[in-house]
Amino acid sequence: MSDYTHVIDELGQNLRGRRIVLGVSGGIAAYKAAELTRALGRMGVDVHVVLTEAGARFVTPLTFQALSGNRAWSGFQDGEMEDGMPHITLGRGIDAILVAPASANFIARLAAGFANDLLSTLCLARDCPLFVAPAMNRQMWENPATRRNVALLQADGIIVLGPCVGEQACGETGPGRMLEPEALCKELTAFFTPKLLAGRKVMLTAGPTFEAIDPVRGITNSSSGKMGYALAAACARAGAEVVLVSGPVTLPVPAGVRCINATSALQMRDEVFAAMTGVDVFIAVAAVADYRPAESAVHKIKKSGAAIHLELVPNPDILAEVAALPEPPFCVGFAAESQELDAYAEAKRRAKRLPMLVGNLLGDGLGGDENTIVIYDEEGRHPLPRAPKTYLAQRIVERIACLLSTK
Ligand code: C5P
Repeated sequence: MSDYTHVIDELGQNLRGRRIVLGVSGGIAAYKAAELTRALGRMGVDVHVVLTEAGARFVTPLTFQALSGNRAWSGFQDGEMEDGMPHITLGRGIDAILVAPASANFIARLAAGFANDLLSTLCLARDCPLFVAPAMNRQMWENPATRRNVALLQADGIIVLGPCVGEQACGETGPGRMLEPEALCKELTAFFTPKLLAGRKVMLTAGPTFEAIDPVRGITNSSSGKMGYALAAACARAGAEVVLVSGPVTLPVPAGVRCINATSALQMRDEVFAAMTGVDVFIAVAAVADYRPAESAVHKIKKSGAAIHLELVPNPDILAEVAALPEPPFCVGFAAESQELDAYAEAKRRAKRLPMLVGNLLGDGLGGDENTIVIYDEEGRHPLPRAPKTYLAQRIVERIACLLSTK
């Protein structure tokens, strides 16, 4: 079973304490709902599971009861709650309903507004967001009836998560696989993240640059891009339009982020200025090479016994150039220092005229998943405890949003 700690870290307080009804309809993916219940519970969510009759044939309510710590309901059990109305009582104070898996049959019932069991009645009587994670055979998913029903759900404001394409229980491959529990947790997290950057356009640089010496060799550094990518994801979750200009890394592009690839510092600068229109916030996380070879050989340099000399010329400082624009966006810099972090970071922030800079000591964060950072701005220094980069990214977004609102 997957370890969800990184998802938990990522969300901060966004899901903790929420009350969510997890609906489970009939399908082999119901076993993944058990894993989902456990994952949500570990994130501090109060999970109440409601199964359809078909769902309860795949996994028993007892399993969900043990995993959620709450009574699990199935079929139509109206008579069993004190007031005889669990479809109303259960639905009170609920932050969201997530139906995972949502079978073709359940989607059809939802689209038609049926209330012929507890789960469909809860959905009909809700006053909270409703998410469905479809899971079915690819032909059922592609059938015009299902297409119509899914379109109806979306038109009614129901959020359809997935499905994804992949191997199916029937042995076929195609669209119809339920999103994995981890992906569903991330979707819920994103939904409940405060939209602190709604209406803002954010541009980030991330990763290293690669300065070619010849067609196969070059100068680069060990930046993993993890902090920049985590920050891009956090900005997207906070509702911003996000453009990420990325040096060569092997990370997946976060959901909701437009990624533009760049190799050298000169290319990165060109891409940054080409997409600069309308940017409200510029966050320079990239470890841009300070120097590049004066010339890059067209052909591979051949080995000889003699020493060779490489002439290096300075690269443009992308952040300093953006900050020096006549009407600059809100600029955030990063600084990794090997000593005297406070003095060097604050000096850098002032030299580049930045309203905000994030500093860390080398060795604390390079390449890893965690970091220890200090945020510097006009109000002083704000140290943050050591934490995963995904979590720190959210804290940085909160600080940016706060400073933007007082600008
Ligand atoms: O001066 P230093 O390289 O330490 O500054 C780091 C900050 O400046 C980072 O935010 C980095 O992304 C940015 N930078 C840049 N272009 C450069 C060098 C640094 O945008 N050529």
